[in-house]
Amino acid sequence: MTLKNRIVVVTGGANGIGRATALRLAGDGADLALLDLDASGLEQTAREVRAIGVRVAVHAIDCTDEAQVEPAFAAIRAELGPVDVLVNNVGQSAREKSHAFVGADLKTLDFLLDVNLKTCIICTRQVVAPMRDRRSGRIINMASEAAVNGAARSWDYAVAKAGVIGFTRALARELAPYQVNVNAVGPGATRTRAIEALPKDLIDRVLSGIPMQRFAEPEEIADVVAFFASDASSYVTGQTLLVNGGNWML
Ligand SMILES: NC(=O)c1ccc[n+]([C@@H]2O[C@H](COP(=O)([O-])OP(=O)(O)OC[C@H]3O[C@@H](n4cnc5c(N)ncnc54)[C@H](O)[C@@H]3O)[C@@H](O)[C@H]2O)c1
Repeated sequence: MTLKNRIVVVTGGANGIGRATALRLAGDGADLALLDLDASGLEQTAREVRAIGVRVAVHAIDCTDEAQVEPAFAAIRAELGPVDVLVNNVGQSAREKSHAFVGADLKTLDFLLDVNLKTCIICTRQVVAPMRDRRSGRIINMASEAAVNGAARSWDYAVAKAGVIGFTRALARELAPYQVNVNAVGPGATRTRAIEALPKDLIDRVLSGIPMQRFAEPEEIADVVAFFASDASSYVTGQTLLVNGGNWML
């Protein structure tokens, strides 16, 4: 799997799965552009990526805001060249605001739609026309197992991530004639800071339901992103690959 000389954008590249993805794809030879709200986390990931020996550009922006996203992609094109692979990884669950549908706060729904789905659509708008023109490109969207397994008290996150899967399928069909592949990755519980912040009894309950009886490591999600970014997946499009230790089987 080599991505040498490919230009890859990873959103949410400062932490967790995005950071692991950046390091994995840099190891495969890709030049990287990393977008994130967290400027100091971005610098840290960028230092680690640079040490691997590839080019890296960072942009500390809010990916929900098209007025910030558009100039960032223009700068990436100027700094690195046309984007070959976009990894739409920004997103989060409601975390401490997670709640039952009864008494739901629609502000949380708006937030989750913005951070999980709108970011994905806004960033994708920046790369589709040039990918179509070049008849080449990969778009990889970070969904979640929550979109398919009916996660209780996370209905709003499930709605947003189901939107990501729907977007992936529709765009895959539209872009297939241009040889642009669009796929999604659906992680199960993955050992990032959100998981580490959970109370122990909840962690134990979640673990007991997972056939592999452990959380995913962010690097295991990055491995699947690397597959979708590589030539090894050239005839795969519109798919969502769950990476969840067997927790939910499609
Ligand atoms: N960790 C899990 O268990 C898990 C499970 C399923 C899906 N996912 C999905 O994987 C993706 C990454 O999750 P993670 O666990 O690594 O999260 P994380 O919080 O560790 O990392 C997310 C990154 O996105 C950045 N970010 C958040 N909002 C942003 C915005 N508006 N603009 C720019 N950057 C922003 C954060 O600063 C952070 O660096 C998310 O889409 C998440 O929904 C995670």
